Amino acid sequence: MSARIAVLASGGGSNLQALLDHFDRLGGRRAGDIVLVASDRRAAGALERARARGIEASVLPRGDDAALGALLREHGADLVVLAGYLRMVPEAVTRRFEGRMLNVHPSLLPAFGGPGMYGARVHEAVLAAGVRVTGATVHFVDERYDEGAIAAQWPVPVADGDTASSLAARVLRVEHALFPRAVQALASGTLRLEGRRVVGAPSPPRGASFVTTDDDAALTAAIDAAFSPT
Ligand code: GRF
Repeated sequence: MSARIAVLASGGGSNLQALLDHFDRLGGRRAGDIVLVASDRRAAGALERARARGIEASVLPRGDDAALGALLREHGADLVVLAGYLRMVPEAVTRRFEGRMLNVHPSLLPAFGGPGMYGARVHEAVLAAGVRVTGATVHFVDERYDEGAIAAQWPVPVADGDTASSLAARVLRVEHALFPRAVQALASGTLRLEGRRVVGAPSPPRGASFVTTDDDAALTAAIDAAFSPT
């Protein structure tokens, strides 16, 4: 039984596209289908990407907290995926989807997260702090912003001379490999939240040998391996 997935996005939707492409590659092995893409922004590129695939694309009315819950119920959503969604999700919805809602964030939470920490601001803060390793985080969503239980993380090195945009691009490539595999793992039940404990979280490679080559095949092979328990 394929999980019915609703995706919420405010921006261009490259993470939505990565999920669509990953499910295409999985074909019959995919554990979910995207049945709805909703945005708080009428001009969001994510809505265009949904329409191009014949997926219901909805604009959420501003200030109407009940609308999102009703839309999710109307589409029978089993899982909710925040793919660059910048609004707070109403508490009634995060409670209803406890353990069934994931968000992707472009840093190694809890570092460089929380209200106002999104987009270039995250990478500017990473560079200003002088840390040598950042990364991508997929986490369960609860009512506290960016503080839900961690479902998956992957480290990304900060290169000498990095700008916020060069670092953002390197982290985004890792997001595009990590996030869809976390969504597939949640939809298939291999990744799940039990109380505050996450079962089935992937383990990144040990030490400084972490894989963030420019070779996408090496990166996706390493992340695939991390999700497939030996
Ligand atoms: C990504 O960097 C993600 O980590 C953050 O918002 C961005 C979404 O980008 N939550 P896109 O709209 O998926 O291209």
